[in-house]
Amino acid sequence: EANERESMYLVSEFAQRHFSEMLWDTELGKAIGLTYFKERGFTDDTIKKFGLGYCLNQWDGFTKAALDKGYRLDYLEKTGLTIVKENANDSSNPKTFDRFKARVMFPIHSMSGRVLGFGGRILTNDKKAAKYLNSPESAIYHKSKVLYGIYFAKQAIAKEDNCYLVEGYTDVIQLYQRGIQNVVSSSGTALTPEQIRLINRLTKNITVLFDGDAAGLRASLRGIDLILEQGMNVKVCSFPEGEDPDSFAKDNELEEVAAYLEQNSKDFIQFKAHLLAREAANDPIKRADTVRDIVNSIAKIPDAIKREIYIQECAHIMNVSEAVLFSTLAQIGKKEI
Ligand code: CTP
Ligand code: MN
Ligand code: MN
Ligand code: MN
Ligand code: MN
Repeated sequence: EANERESMYLVSEFAQRHFSEMLWDTELGKAIGLTYFKERGFTDDTIKKFGLGYCLNQWDGFTKAALDKGYRLDYLEKTGLTIVKENANDSSNPKTFDRFKARVMFPIHSMSGRVLGFGGRILTNDKKAAKYLNSPESAIYHKSKVLYGIYFAKQAIAKEDNCYLVEGYTDVIQLYQRGIQNVVSSSGTALTPEQIRLINRLTKNITVLFDGDAAGLRASLRGIDLILEQGMNVKVCSFPEGEDPDSFAKDNELEEVAAYLEQNSKDFIQFKAHLLAREAANDPIKRADTVRDIVNSIAKIPDAIKREIYIQECAHIMNVSEAVLFSTLAQIGKKEI
């Protein structure tokens, strides 16, 4: 099985080289893919650093090139790079399709820099097609254990003793290019304990950056309890309506981006308490729910001193007595045993 995985790494690394060759060295790749990345504001250095590429608009151009080089169809299929279908007319000769046909390609690297899989983006704004297509789970690609950008960010995360967590591929790349290199993304999936552990080895501090579309805000807030559970300090920072870290970093200089992050990063528990307090202001029943909600988050924090301090602050923010919060905390503690 180690051999099988190694073969899958090799075919993925070939794919990364192939897609970047198509981007830089073909007329269509340059006209379509490279132009797309440049319009997004990515420099040549950035495009090369992140190993970005383009999969041509052909049914199986990549698959043929890989087979030509001696890579086996087996591994092309297992990595999901190639989709294999029975051929109705000739069962010994299956049809093969490039999964990422006509998409710009974002390779996903492991902590040590090996290519595990890809995200591929369509270039049109066709609402019928998925904007991003990702490699399927495989023996080398476990979505729940990978953070996009971690290979490039790990040194800066340790050095800055903080990690920015963003929603998407382009948020990582744009912030990195702007000079904020301690940044990773869970790439559209809900944050997992394994992903948090990857960061936890490098720093105890996470700042979660939200797109200014609020769509995922409530869902993401729940995921953040997982970070508290690991004893980490969490801040959150949202962006103006219609902006995400990518668009914001594209349009602003480093000093402005850094200042924005500095001024708008709020302690997560305080942020959540204010948000809940505002939402439930005049509704007693809702207020009771929000009190339980915030105490649930506080209950995840392993450090008793921090829990106590947060209880005091939240009592103040939510205008309830500390005693009520402490007794709620005690009840939650009992349930968990
Ligand atoms: N995503 C995905 N499939 C989709 C939409 C999103 O896998 N159909 C993931 C991608 O990793 C994406 C992230 O969720 O980067 C965040 O989604 P979104 O904010 O919609 O995309 P952006 O990263 O802002 O993409 P872009 O700027 O290229 O439009
Ligand atoms: Mn495995
Ligand atoms: Mn979004
Ligand atoms: Mn976004
Ligand atoms: Mn975006």
